[in-house]
Amino acid sequence: MDFHSSPRRFPAYLLLCLCLMINISRGYGSQKLYIVYLGEKKHDDPSLVTSSHHDMLTTILGSKEDALASITYSYKHGFSGFAAMLTDDQAQDLAELPEVISVTPNQHHDLMTTRSWDFLGMNLDHQPPSKLLQRSKYGEDVIIGIVDTGIWPESRSFSDEGYGPVPSRWKGVCQLGQAWNSTNCSRKIIGARYYPAGLDKADQANNYMSARDINGHGTHTASTAAGAIVEGVSLHGLAAGVARGGAPRARLAVYKVAFEGPKKVQLASAALLAALDDAIHDGVDILSLSVQYNDNSFGSLHAVQKGITVVYGAGNSGPRPQVISNTAPWVITVATSKIDRSFPTAITLGNNQTIVGQSLYYMIKNESKSGFQPLVQGGSCSIEALNGTEINGKIVLCIKETFGPTADILPDAITNVKSGGAFGLIFAIYTIDKLLSTEDCVGIACVIVDIDIGFQVATYIGSQGSPIAKIEPASTITGNRVPAPRVAFFSSRGPSAKYPTVLKVHKLK
Ligand SMILES: *[C@@H]1O[C@H](CO)[C@@H](O)[C@H](O)[C@H]1NC(C)=O
Ligand SMILES: *[C@@H]1O[C@H](CO)[C@@H](O)[C@H](O)[C@H]1NC(C)=O
Ligand SMILES: *[C@@H]1O[C@H](CO)[C@@H](O)[C@H](O)[C@H]1NC(C)=O
Ligand SMILES: *[C@@H]1O[C@H](CO)[C@@H](O)[C@H](O)[C@H]1NC(C)=O
Ligand SMILES: *[C@@H]1O[C@H](CO)[C@@H](O)[C@H](O)[C@H]1NC(C)=O
Repeated sequence: MDFHSSPRRFPAYLLLCLCLMINISRGYGSQKLYIVYLGEKKHDDPSLVTSSHHDMLTTILGSKEDALASITYSYKHGFSGFAAMLTDDQAQDLAELPEVISVTPNQHHDLMTTRSWDFLGMNLDHQPPSKLLQRSKYGEDVIIGIVDTGIWPESRSFSDEGYGPVPSRWKGVCQLGQAWNSTNCSRKIIGARYYPAGLDKADQANNYMSARDINGHGTHTASTAAGAIVEGVSLHGLAAGVARGGAPRARLAVYKVAFEGPKKVQLASAALLAALDDAIHDGVDILSLSVQYNDNSFGSLHAVQKGITVVYGAGNSGPRPQVISNTAPWVITVATSKIDRSFPTAITLGNNQTIVGQSLYYMIKNESKSGFQPLVQGGSCSIEALNGTEINGKIVLCIKETFGPTADILPDAITNVKSGGAFGLIFAIYTIDKLLSTEDCVGIACVIVDIDIGFQVATYIGSQGSPIAKIEPASTITGNRVPAPRVAFFSSRGPSAKYPTVLKVHKLK
């Protein structure tokens, strides 16, 4: 409705009344968290930048108190902007101001790595240290900012034994909080901050209100990037070796932006931008983010402008092309690669045919059960597919015939087969890139086999009155016999769907 073009048609009292209604609806509409981006900051003094945000918000909301109550984060170091609780109309009004570049609703993003892959740990590494690593002094005095679910400071990977003083250029803080006192920061973990805005009471109760990691994801990504050398690590004898991060002597600055939610991890773009802004201020050299974050990439742009290398994960939506996230050309986007190690697991069928799959099956739980066990066909191993099949004490063959990620049926198959009291699980799928972790498979022998092998096993089962099989514990092989490096099956691939000239990861093998 346009009030200016023909005001004379309305009596004055009617106009007044309409205006009042509009003001009321502007003041009392439901509020959402918005991110207001203002570009480069106009002052070097952060307090001046913040007060310019307060002033701008005061002109829209009408009072300073309301402005202070509504503002959640003020971005004032690396760039200028703020996150605030606003009605749609207030957001609209702000967007019309000439100094505002964009106003976008806060969004929730996903974390990347899958749990079972975490558990294996890409950082268990047999290789002797490379020349490059020696020449770069193992990353000595490089500061890596980890923007993730926080960290578990007691892990041996984060010991600060033998570290010199914290680099004097460091301007970060050790933010105290729940189960986190000043001793949790060290010469290794030199900074810690957390960004809980938007969490309700229940979410807060399910999380440490500090940089402490309840999920494990951030601890994994931090140790992969900069975990100190820990000797004699193995997963029950498999993958034995030295655990260490890519830059084992680097310092860590922890920015916790992701929190456990009712169903999945919650990660708000407003919090992520606040972490980037602080990290630019604190003086990190590298930022590592294993999060799916496609919009508002101005945060990383400002970081790169300040000389920070920003590294994002590519995502876990493979093997299809054009599913890669974080495709801004100024960030490095990393795919997950296979390493030159595999865990062949021999399965012998009752006809003496031996087939090979992959597992982390490391011991026979009960020696008297180490021989042949009855083998049954479980189809897709859904509850319906298993209904009527006696699987107690047996090895169950599960087949996923459709091409695509295993994530959809594998966890259910494991649960169903376990709850039926089965001895083992042979899961046949189009790729055997995935490993089942011992964590998923507690109390049961789990092996992944190629789909063709799955069909061979199915044929054997169909041809026998009482089919049997034996699963041997896995062994570890490394080196030339394993094709590597190869982009892992589940890793997202480019090119970018939005900007097709940005290729990023595009190898299909
Ligand atoms: C971290 O702080 C908590 C207390 O808040 C303490 O119990 C814990 O031992 C500390 N851990 C380290 C590694 O200092
Ligand atoms: C941190 O917590 C630990 C364990 O509760 C305690 O021993 C230590 O004195 C605390 N340190 C500080 C600086 O509060
Ligand atoms: C399998 O091999 C064992 C030992 O080599 C032999 O005793 C047995 O008869 C073979 N079974 C079949 C079905 O070939
Ligand atoms: C091992 O398995 C046998 C046969 O199923 C059973 O009788 C025995 O109690 C088991 N032993 C242990 C230690 O679980
Ligand atoms: C299993 O099958 C029986 C008989 O067909 C049916 O009554 C029952 O509801 C099924 N159970 C499940 C869990 O599907």
